[in-house]
Amino acid sequence: MSESEPTATIIDGKAVAAEVRAGVADDVTALQKDHDFSPGLAVVLVGEDAASAVYVRNKGRATIKAGMQSFEHRLPADTSEADLIDLVRTLNQDDAIDGILVQLPLPDHIDELHVIDAIDPAKDVDGLHVISAGRLMSGMAGLVPCTPLGCMELIRRNIDSFEGKRALVIGRSKLVGKPLAFLLLQENCTVTIAHSRTIDLAEECRRADILVVAVGRPEFVEGDCVKPGAIVIDVGINRVPTDDGKGRLVGDVNFTEASRVAGAITPVPGGVGPMTIAQLLRNTVTAACLRRGITIPT
Ligand code: GUN
Repeated sequence: MSESEPTATIIDGKAVAAEVRAGVADDVTALQKDHDFSPGLAVVLVGEDAASAVYVRNKGRATIKAGMQSFEHRLPADTSEADLIDLVRTLNQDDAIDGILVQLPLPDHIDELHVIDAIDPAKDVDGLHVISAGRLMSGMAGLVPCTPLGCMELIRRNIDSFEGKRALVIGRSKLVGKPLAFLLLQENCTVTIAHSRTIDLAEECRRADILVVAVGRPEFVEGDCVKPGAIVIDVGINRVPTDDGKGRLVGDVNFTEASRVAGAITPVPGGVGPMTIAQLLRNTVTAACLRRGITIPT
């Protein structure tokens, strides 16, 4: 890899997220004026995981800033699965709540699938319920996971057209890889999902016009695997050690290398990360409108 300057457009996820959030705030103002309510989002955190606590706090702040109601539930790490499901059922019944998000991961003694299954699909702003996943697969209107929606928005703003583009999604999680593959397919991309057993991943990468990496491994994709001019979306957020002991955040892509080859690339931090909360707010407005039979403002 030569020591040339970055040539790629650096995609400013913070700026795009600010635009999305401003649009949501406008929609909330319109809902208050025309329908006399503010959407409500409940976020449930179980345990003391420091990173999850920061995410939950940021979600609450962003919800209030958008003019919506925020309901936070913090439960101790030894909460039983039955008690957590009871809380979810109470939130399902609460008319002030339009969206329910249970922060993942959950402690080991709780089966995540049981908890997600208990969420009313109409309030499933994470898009993780089987009903939401089935709607997405069937091309029906519904709630779609936030990070894939954020990725699509960033790609849409940096590509002439999706039609016929080769898209490679590395990672097959139900929160990112799988739903994103369906969204790209809906836009008529030719989609490949790669994962830990994929043979000759580098070759798959070099063919991709759209490359999305969501594996949670620091700088996993090297610059020489990126097709010249490709759009690269880096979903990873990994903390790596530094000499001063503070550590630094890097993505799943070697940014320095890839930014000399790609046409456009998201940085870490400041790329996909800010989009997830923005899309969560958007999903809360969508859920509130669908549940009440109101036309979705945007
Ligand atoms: N943990 C990390 N990302 C997410 C997310 O998008 N939703 C939930 N529920 N938990 C997460």
